[in-house]
Amino acid sequence: MTSATEIPTVRLRGGSAMPMLGLGTWQAEGNRCYEAVCHALERGYRHIDTATGYGNEAEVGRAVHDSGVPREDLFITTKLPPGRAGRERQTIEQSLRKLGTGYVDLWLIHWPPGGRARPEVWQQLLAARDAGLARAVGVSNYRLGQIDELVNATGEAPAVNQIPWSPPEHDPRLLAGHRERDVVVEGYSPFRGSDLAHPTLREIAEGYGVSPAQVVLRWHLQHRIVVIPKSVTPARIDENLDVLGFALTDAQMSGIDAIGGR
Ligand SMILES: NC(=O)c1ccc[n+]([C@@H]2O[C@H](COP(=O)([O-])OP(=O)(O)OC[C@H]3O[C@@H](n4cnc5c(N)ncnc54)[C@H](OP(=O)(O)O)[C@@H]3O)[C@@H](O)[C@H]2O)c1
Repeated sequence: MTSATEIPTVRLRGGSAMPMLGLGTWQAEGNRCYEAVCHALERGYRHIDTATGYGNEAEVGRAVHDSGVPREDLFITTKLPPGRAGRERQTIEQSLRKLGTGYVDLWLIHWPPGGRARPEVWQQLLAARDAGLARAVGVSNYRLGQIDELVNATGEAPAVNQIPWSPPEHDPRLLAGHRERDVVVEGYSPFRGSDLAHPTLREIAEGYGVSPAQVVLRWHLQHRIVVIPKSVTPARIDENLDVLGFALTDAQMSGIDAIGGR
């Protein structure tokens, strides 16, 4: 089993270290969410991804509290719903109360509000960071052009863009575009976007005695893409963390890259 200290981290602008594998919590509700987060923290996860829109910040907060893991060892992300643009400060304060913490490690704009970049919303995230309510701030579901709009207006790029990323969605040019801008790519829906029965994934998985899901997560890590698989099933939570005991070859990486055909 992977221990917390082995999970690789990526350095975010501003200096904090983000564990490259975390637990997703979309559609993890009520006590199932609480139990999943408790289990994950007990098994060594140190990064939890939630959002105001998931309606489970209080359950995440309760699990974090009950885990006894020191706050400084955790990386907690939450997100501003686009409908709360204009009420940013109130929303983050409410999130912090529910999470039972004085700060989050990462606060994201969940979607471009109304489909637009909205630099004035971004400015409010920067202000919350400067006030110490978030260690780092970023965006989710933004296009590169929209990130450029934020930078042009404020001089500051998001630390992270959380976007869908899986083998069929792999896009080397999009990845390079983020890296040119020093924006960390955090990939969501690693399995939802994948076909876990794809022969390339199955063949590689069989070779290492692991599951296709583990191959997908390992592929993210070797591309230095942060990944946040969601599960409320204890055995899968364990499986998804246990991806450091094998390494994909360059040929296997290229084979998986080719699934998406880009
Ligand atoms: N920013 C955004 O707009 C956005 C959008 C979507 C997602 N996200 C974030 O990204 C996280 C992950 O994405 P996601 O929830 O869409 O999907 P996902 O992590 O790709 O897939 C979750 C599904 O896969 C199953 N699963 C988990 N581990 C598995 C394994 N080892 N083998 C087979 N199946 C497995 C889960 O089932 P069980 O839970 O029943 O075990 C669940 O049905 C979310 O939870 C959320 O935190 C962000």
